[in-house]
Amino acid sequence: MTSHNYNIDEIRSDFPIFQQEIYGKPLTFLDTAASAQKPQKVIDAISACYSNEYANIHRGGYLLSQELTAKYEASRKTVQDHIGAKSHKEVILLRGATEAINLVAQTWGRQNLVEGDEVILSQLEHHSNIVPWQILRDEKNFEIKVSPIDEKGNFLLDEYEKLLSEKTKLVAITHISNALGTITPINEIIKMAHKVGAKVLVDGCQALPHMEVDVVGLDADFYVFSGHKIYGPTGVGVLYGKQELLDVMPPYQGGGDMIRSVTFEKTTFNDLPHKFEAGTPNIVGGIGLSAAIDYIKDVGLQNIHDHEQELLNYGLEKIKEVNGIEMRGQAENMAGILSFTMKSAHPHDIGTILDQDGIAIRTGHHCAQPIMDFMDVPATARASFGLYNTKEDVDRLVDGLHKVNRIFA
Ligand code: ALA
Repeated sequence: MTSHNYNIDEIRSDFPIFQQEIYGKPLTFLDTAASAQKPQKVIDAISACYSNEYANIHRGGYLLSQELTAKYEASRKTVQDHIGAKSHKEVILLRGATEAINLVAQTWGRQNLVEGDEVILSQLEHHSNIVPWQILRDEKNFEIKVSPIDEKGNFLLDEYEKLLSEKTKLVAITHISNALGTITPINEIIKMAHKVGAKVLVDGCQALPHMEVDVVGLDADFYVFSGHKIYGPTGVGVLYGKQELLDVMPPYQGGGDMIRSVTFEKTTFNDLPHKFEAGTPNIVGGIGLSAAIDYIKDVGLQNIHDHEQELLNYGLEKIKEVNGIEMRGQAENMAGILSFTMKSAHPHDIGTILDQDGIAIRTGHHCAQPIMDFMDVPATARASFGLYNTKEDVDRLVDGLHKVNRIFA
C-alpha cells in the first residue's frame, strides 16, 4: 500500500497479536502511542533469555551470569549506537521514562535548582514531565513557567523566547506530544535554551518509535524514552545524559550495583552508568529493548516515518467525512496521531462503540490534563499509528465514527 521497501503484510505477520480477532472482528490497533505491540523477534529474545540464558548479572562468577552480563551490556551498546550517544556511560537503563525524569529532578534538579531559578515546561507536557518538577518546586521554591501553544497545537517559538532569561536553568520539553501529535521544533528549543545557559531535558517517548534521534546532533543534555513504546517490553526505559553532567550528579536510589564499597561509616559509588542503576535491573527488559531496536532498524526508521506520515495525511483527509468531527491536534508538523472530539458523543462512548468493532483507540486526557484544559475539553479520542497500521485501519476507524453518529443521532 505504501512506498517500496515497505512490505506491510510481512511487517504485520511479524506481530502475533494480529492473528487473533476481537469480538469476531480483525484487530484494528490504533493505540501505539500508549504502548506498541511486540514483534515475534522481541518475544523470542525475551523467551530465550528466560528459557536458556537466565541468571543475575554483574554479580555471578559463573558462566551463565557472565554471558548474560555481556549480553545485557551489548544491549546498552545497541541503545547507545541507536541514539548516537558518545559513550555507554551516558546510557542509563531504568524502569521507564517516568523514572528517568524523576531521577533527573531528584539528582540534577535537587543539586542545581534554587529559589529565584526558573524551569520552563510546555503546555504539551505529559504528567510525567510536569509532576516531578512540581514536587521539587514545592521544596526548592523555584518557578515553573509554561511555554504556550496555539489552538492547533503548534509550539510557539516566539512566546518561548520571551520566557527565556538568565534565570532559566532548565527547559523540560517533549519532542512529540502524546496527546496531540505535535512535533516540537526541538533543535531551535535546545539552541535557544543553551544561549541563556539553561540545560534541556527532552521527553522522547513518542519520538523514538517514529524517527531517527541523534542526541549529540540535538545537543540534548538529557533525553529520555521508554522501551514499551518502541515495540519493546514494559518496565524498561532509558536516560541519556551528557557524561559531564552525570559524572557530578549524586546517585538517585541506593542499593546493589550502584556501590563500589559499603561500610556502616561510608559508601563509595560505582562508575557510570551503574551509579544510577541500583538493584537488580530489568535484565530481560534490556535485552528485549535491544531486540526491539534491531527490529525497527531492520524495517528502517525512514521507512517507518514515511509510512506513518502517509497514514496521517490519509487519516486527516478521511476523517473530515465524519459529521461533527473536531480535530484537536492540527499542528503543522505532526506525528501519526489523530486526536479529536465529536459533537454527537463523549470520547468514552466513541471508544466503547469502536471497541465493539475490534478498533482499539485511547480516550481520556492521555495523562496530559493541561492540554485538555487548554482545549477546553475533558477528554479526546485518540487514534495513534504504528509501523503495522494500514489505510484499511483508517477506513475502519472512519466507518466506526459514522456508526457513532448513527447511534447518537
Ligand atoms: N503516555 C501514554 C499515552 O500517551 C500512556 O497513552
